[in-house]
Amino acid sequence: MRRLPLCLLLLFSPFIIASRRDEEDSYGDEMMTAEPAKGKKMVVRPSRVRSESRGPRASSPTMTLRQQEEFNCPIGCSCNKTTITCQNIDSESNLFLQIQPIAFPHLDTLILTGNRFADLASSGLFGNKKEHEYLTLANLSDNRISSISQQTFINMPHLEYLYLSNNLISKTSKNPFGGLKKLKKLYLSNALTGKAIDSDRIGTLFEARSNQLQDLESIDLSSNKIKAIDNDAFCMVVGVAELLLGKNILSAFEVDKNCLNGLRRLDLSGNLFTSFSTSLFDSLPNLSTLDISDNPIECDCNMKSFIEFAQKDDTKFLNQDRTQCASPQALNGKSIFRVKLESVCVPKSSNIFSNLFLLALFGVVAFFVYRFYRHRIPTPAVFQFGPRHPTPGHDAIYREIGEGGRIVPRENSLEEEDEDSIFENPLYTFDNPAWAR
Ligand SMILES: *[C@@H]1O[C@H](CO)[C@@H](O)[C@H](O)[C@H]1NC(C)=O
Ligand SMILES: *[C@@H]1O[C@H](CO)[C@@H](O)[C@H](O)[C@H]1NC(C)=O
Ligand SMILES: *[C@@H]1O[C@H](CO)[C@@H](O)[C@H](O)[C@H]1NC(C)=O
Repeated sequence: MRRLPLCLLLLFSPFIIASRRDEEDSYGDEMMTAEPAKGKKMVVRPSRVRSESRGPRASSPTMTLRQQEEFNCPIGCSCNKTTITCQNIDSESNLFLQIQPIAFPHLDTLILTGNRFADLASSGLFGNKKEHEYLTLANLSDNRISSISQQTFINMPHLEYLYLSNNLISKTSKNPFGGLKKLKKLYLSNALTGKAIDSDRIGTLFEARSNQLQDLESIDLSSNKIKAIDNDAFCMVVGVAELLLGKNILSAFEVDKNCLNGLRRLDLSGNLFTSFSTSLFDSLPNLSTLDISDNPIECDCNMKSFIEFAQKDDTKFLNQDRTQCASPQALNGKSIFRVKLESVCVPKSSNIFSNLFLLALFGVVAFFVYRFYRHRIPTPAVFQFGPRHPTPGHDAIYREIGEGGRIVPRENSLEEEDEDSIFENPLYTFDNPAWAR
């Protein structure tokens, strides 16, 4: 009960902070030394919300330090000096306004997941002109974010790691990440939705000015149904070393010369590529790790030189067992690293067998045709215009002339019995007009 006034005081602390600034001077020096020496302008932060003398009960300085962040912590979240975590609290975007830089001056890591932020494009997340200067990691995954712009991230100028995976981003301004000058890793896996995601869409995401996104080294765009990417889409992000494009619906990936020069790791797995060209390595001189597994590769003559290249230099390739030929039939399911080169691009090798089969089939057909006509030669005209189904009389005549004109009794042998049943089929009888012609 004695703590109640203290609690009330602390609850309202964000509003009191500003007016207390002057009184906090004694803590200012301490805060400055605690801050990382970034060579930036030193800002004296009102990190101590209250001084012990004001509380009903004095506590140690470390206690007060911890408590400031705790008491400013939004409901449902957990906070300490450097980290705020709000997971699955289904909050809307006004949650950001409860995380004011003035109350969390040392914030380094922000983990907000499982909320419904929707449209974040209109203004800076934390309000205007207030920066979380030491924020380096923001995990905004899984928040049903629908829209972002360059405006969105203006108050986190030193962000290095941005996680935006599992969102529903259908609208982006040009160059939305341009303001993030220190951005190193950008995670956009399963983040983009909307109409077919083609070259334009990805291009505008990275249409940075020449002094922007210079530190960006890893971009994850996997699982986004991306259909096409412009040759120059990544030309403005010169430092990219890792590009993850797995699980999209790409069937081609070409890069202008001198773009992505520093790219070392490229993931194109799980797409719709039917072939790859060795020229990929010409345009990406520093590429050392490539994943092309789980694509429907056609191991035909077009692919032969690539397969040869890949087998010679297979240390560059990941998931080789899952890098398989989808066609031709004879190579289906074989890893391109295990197929015999001789079996790729053989002039229709599998057709030898089908040709033999066709040849045999023609032989059989020819044999029967020959037999029909052999029987027909001595046949009177009545057979051509006679009734459709063999009458007993027909049967008898035809049996008489069977086997080269010799009279063959019906019960002669099983073989003959079979022949009869074939000839009794209207399709094969002489008086079938189709055959009689
Ligand atoms: C804050 O909490 C995070 C985890 O929630 C922890 O990793 C970090 O070390 C804590 N920082 C401080 C200063 O207590
Ligand atoms: C970000 O949040 C997602 C969803 O909660 C989680 O799966 C992922 O591990 C987090 N990543 C980091 C680096 O915090
Ligand atoms: C890529 O490799 C070339 C040499 O092949 C090298 O001169 C260049 O600096 C490398 N680029 C990057 C960004 O690492």
